Amino acid sequence: MARPKINIAVDGHSSTGKSTLARQLAAKLSYTYIDTGAMYRAVTLYALRENLIPGSSPDEALPKELNNIQLRFEFNSEKQISELLLNGENVEAEIRTQAVAEQVSTIAAISAVRKHLVAQQQEMAKDGGVVMDGRDIGTVVLPQAELKIFMTASHEVRTKRRFNELREKGQEVSLEEVSKNLAHRDDLDSNRADSPLRQAEGAYLLNNSNLDPEKQLEIAYHWALEKITA
Ligand code: DC
Repeated sequence: MARPKINIAVDGHSSTGKSTLARQLAAKLSYTYIDTGAMYRAVTLYALRENLIPGSSPDEALPKELNNIQLRFEFNSEKQISELLLNGENVEAEIRTQAVAEQVSTIAAISAVRKHLVAQQQEMAKDGGVVMDGRDIGTVVLPQAELKIFMTASHEVRTKRRFNELREKGQEVSLEEVSKNLAHRDDLDSNRADSPLRQAEGAYLLNNSNLDPEKQLEIAYHWALEKITA
């Protein structure tokens, strides 16, 4: 008999490698990976393009636009990853820029935006077999997820990771800029009124400051198997 498919929530601070772990874990289990940060980034990109930030009171203007924003993940079989389409346009590269990173926490703090995206995320996970990463997956989106993982790492380690990632993409940023942006995002994500970043009840803590990706995957896979066979 096939093993029952569970849902797995992966939350944690920015640049802790949540998406790397969630994607690898999903592949190893033949589950679907859903990157909810990409969804907040795509709404931010839309807001930037439509001049809905800053100043023009995005918390009023943007909610009215939400029904004009269609988000869909499409699997790219060549790259073996799912990519996000914003109104049919592949925005994978554009949502990872520093311009989007600078505004995304502000957009993610708007309750109407969260409500809209949370409903879509719950729909995506309704049949199980999903590994979803974000900030509020274990607390708000999928509080019934069978396995919840909360990832963290030291600020220095995360700054270096993000810096290397941006440099590899050819983006000109300084270590100091990246460090400040991370601290700012941590602050906004952890202190916003709606769904602040918290370790969910029952979530397993994974501090990967000194863990290589293989070891981390092994730990998470072991936790998943425990839950699947429980
Ligand atoms: O995981 P990420 O860095 O791509 O997320 C981008 C931003 O979106 C981050 O500042 C926090 C926010 N976010 C959120 O509030 N809730 C989620 N479920 C996922 C991301």
